[in-house]
Amino acid sequence: PSVSLIGAPTDIGAGHQGARLGPEALRIAGLGEALVARGVDVVDRGNLDGPRNPWQPPVDGYRHLNEVATWNRLVMDAVRAELRDGRMPILLGGDHCLGLGSITAVARHCRETGKKLRVIWLDAHADFNTSNVTPSGNIHGMPVACLCGIGPRTLTHLDGEGPAITPDVIRQIGIRSVDQGEKRLVKEHGLDIYDMRYIDEVGMKRAMAEALDGLDADTHLHVSFDVDFLDPSIAPGVGTTVPGGPNYREAQLVMEMIADTGLMASLDIVELNPLLDKRNRTGKLAVDLVESLFGKSTLMRD
Ligand code: ARG
Ligand code: MN
Ligand code: MN
Ligand code: MN
Repeated sequence: PSVSLIGAPTDIGAGHQGARLGPEALRIAGLGEALVARGVDVVDRGNLDGPRNPWQPPVDGYRHLNEVATWNRLVMDAVRAELRDGRMPILLGGDHCLGLGSITAVARHCRETGKKLRVIWLDAHADFNTSNVTPSGNIHGMPVACLCGIGPRTLTHLDGEGPAITPDVIRQIGIRSVDQGEKRLVKEHGLDIYDMRYIDEVGMKRAMAEALDGLDADTHLHVSFDVDFLDPSIAPGVGTTVPGGPNYREAQLVMEMIADTGLMASLDIVELNPLLDKRNRTGKLAVDLVESLFGKSTLMRD
């Protein structure tokens, strides 16, 4: 495959600063080199250049709404250009509000090329808040709702067309922190959530088999990897840690099962905050897991 790395150094949607250093931390952890070593053709497009983080309190339930919209338009255009070129975009966040721009571009590409879309959302959080129910006003807690058309028009109609997806497109894995009002919303909209309780009960293998069920050669698989998906004991370098996440081997299995489909066509790596990390440990772990996403496996295979 041909991959393009797109840096989006912003924490405009988050409640901590530092995720804007994520793209550099991923590069220093050797992301590009690791992919090249796996035989992938890699071009690093460098970083997008959007507005700085003004670090203001929320207004009407949104912190930095205009800046979030601007960054997401930049991301959408950059991702779209790579897909049109037949390349696989890897978005280096940045906080998870950027999933909105990335997936809006992917969904549009799928409509234009007649592909089916499946989104695998790896996260501790459902990111399905609205301005009415958000406890924080941080828009990184809202991208899934916005993608499904619930949110301010500037975000739900980022590309001028309607909402990017319907909830049936998405599978959320690893969820263990959903806010009170957000719980009601995810039920109301029927989100397919494989939360940690379910994973504990049936195991990661079966959870992932279900989340990946029904794909075929016409499916574009998008993976949105919020690094806080991982248990904080192995991934401390994120702003919103939640205990009780997947351990190393479970996370690796997730990536390996996605790799086995051979269908991943776009990827976000978001929420890495090297200021909260220990010697870029979480960045290195993210790179290691991306290698698994690209087919690195243990002893028995390649
Ligand atoms: N649910 C919380 C909120 O809305 C936390 C969201 C964290 N999201 C993330 N992408 N890390 O404020
Ligand atoms: Mn394509
Ligand atoms: Mn998230
Ligand atoms: Mn999260």
